Amino acid sequence: MISYKSEAIMPSLFFFPGIPREFRAQILAAPGRVVFSPKTHTVIQANGIHKSYGKLHVLKGVDIEIGRAEIVAIVGKSGAGKSTLLHILGTLDQADKGEIRIDGEAVAQLSSTRLAAFRNKHIGFIFQFHHLLPEFTALENVCIPAFIGGQTEAVAEPRAKELLDYLGLGDRFSHKPGQLSGGEQQRVAVARALVNQPSVVFADEPSGNLDSVSSQELHQLLFSLRKDFGQTFVIVTHNTELASNERPAA
Ligand SMILES: Nc1ncnc2c1ncn2[C@@H]1O[C@H](COP(=O)(O)OP(=O)(O)O)[C@@H](O)[C@H]1O
Ligand SMILES: [Mg+2]
Repeated sequence: MISYKSEAIMPSLFFFPGIPREFRAQILAAPGRVVFSPKTHTVIQANGIHKSYGKLHVLKGVDIEIGRAEIVAIVGKSGAGKSTLLHILGTLDQADKGEIRIDGEAVAQLSSTRLAAFRNKHIGFIFQFHHLLPEFTALENVCIPAFIGGQTEAVAEPRAKELLDYLGLGDRFSHKPGQLSGGEQQRVAVARALVNQPSVVFADEPSGNLDSVSSQELHQLLFSLRKDFGQTFVIVTHNTELASNERPAA
């Protein structure tokens, strides 16, 4: 069981000579599970991605490489193809042409059953609207992807609680989505995206529906998750402050 208590692991972060700094948090977060070498640090490698809707050629040969612990902001005007790119990188939609590798796996070649299993294990999603299930509590919503991935309640529940706690929702486990504020709902969605320890989390305008304070809190949390656990994020955003902190998509 990994710990998401940042204060417990942060002091050790600087005692791993020879290991690139951005990998250290993840090694500590998942001891014994992940062995990094500089050659394996690429999470997503996409080359020559094309996508058209009828005559509308939306993606015209996108190349992008995303490494572990990077936060990549995809920016562009409305209709530019940001969501299309995010959905294709996230394996929710298929490119017409081009190759995508996630954790080294050529995802286009997987059968739909294997792709669903791969997505459950390797990829997390956060959308503009939280898409939490209204009948279930915050804790249950976070546990669902873990159950789908075959985890028992004894394993999933403590991890979901740790995550909710980390995200400032330690006293909201049994609240249903309708009993939470917009910012809280979105943080439950972040916990749900993280519960299976994905290599990468895709977020499509995750703060688009939030007020400016909640929006800023959410962005700070994403940066904390990167710093404390080496979490990789690919985010479509209109938020220029968030985007200007990071390199733009190719
Ligand atoms: N399923 C679809 N069928 C036809 N056109 C689509 C479809 N999805 C998106 N588009 C079009 O592709 C373009 C890019 O869409 P999108 O990726 O959603 O843009 P963004 O997220 O940058 O606002 C838009 O012009 C949109 O109307
Ligand atoms: Mg969009």
